[in-house]
Amino acid sequence: MSTVTVLDHPLIQHKLAILRSKNTPVKEFRELVSEISGLMCYEATRNLPLKEVQVETPICTATCRVLAGKKLAIVPILRAGLGMVDKMVDLIPSAKIGHIGLYRDPETHLPVEYYCKLPEDIENRQVFVVDPMLATGGSAIAAIDFLKKRGCKHIIMMNIIGCPEGVKAVQDAHPDVDIYLAAMDEKLNDHAYIVPGLGDAGDRIFGTK
Ligand code: PRP
Ligand code: URA
Repeated sequence: MSTVTVLDHPLIQHKLAILRSKNTPVKEFRELVSEISGLMCYEATRNLPLKEVQVETPICTATCRVLAGKKLAIVPILRAGLGMVDKMVDLIPSAKIGHIGLYRDPETHLPVEYYCKLPEDIENRQVFVVDPMLATGGSAIAAIDFLKKRGCKHIIMMNIIGCPEGVKAVQDAHPDVDIYLAAMDEKLNDHAYIVPGLGDAGDRIFGTK
């Protein structure tokens, strides 16, 4: 079974509290999503393999460590996942970026695909799927399904807020995918929104409501 890591770092929790507030305006909301993503990225990449290299400093030769192993890819689930990409790319500038477009049907709450464009060599990369919200898990499961159909074997899921229903659904469908959250909330409401959550992440990032 995959691991679920809730990143309870004080900086993440502080920023998340402001993010949740209904009074936080769009500009600040977008900045906070980005900042939290950077902090989460730092933790979610903690186990990436390293290799030793020799570096000539102005003083002597030093044995240093650099990233080894697979190249990385960041795959946001559109739309809201886009808000998590920039800070991650700042930290991992060599990562390629794929896009998977899904929206939840308002009646059925099931994900509907409208776009998918992935790096050609995605199957050889360590993939980070990013989306602020993990609610029913339908969108995450569909995105991971796409990636696996394209041959991806190493996938990590990063969500800012999850809930037990969504986490269980992803773990049942994809037990090999580790999940990183900033918070595990209480439950889903009758509209499949996370409680207490932060409302509609896409609308709040892009100011569409
Ligand atoms: C939101 C969110 C996730 C999905 C989570 O996107 O960003 O992608 O819902 O819900 P689930 O776990 O029940 O699938 P939404 O479908 O509202 O689209 P948007 O990002 O374009 O706003
Ligand atoms: N999508 C969101 O943006 N928020 C939720 O609470 C659930 C799905």
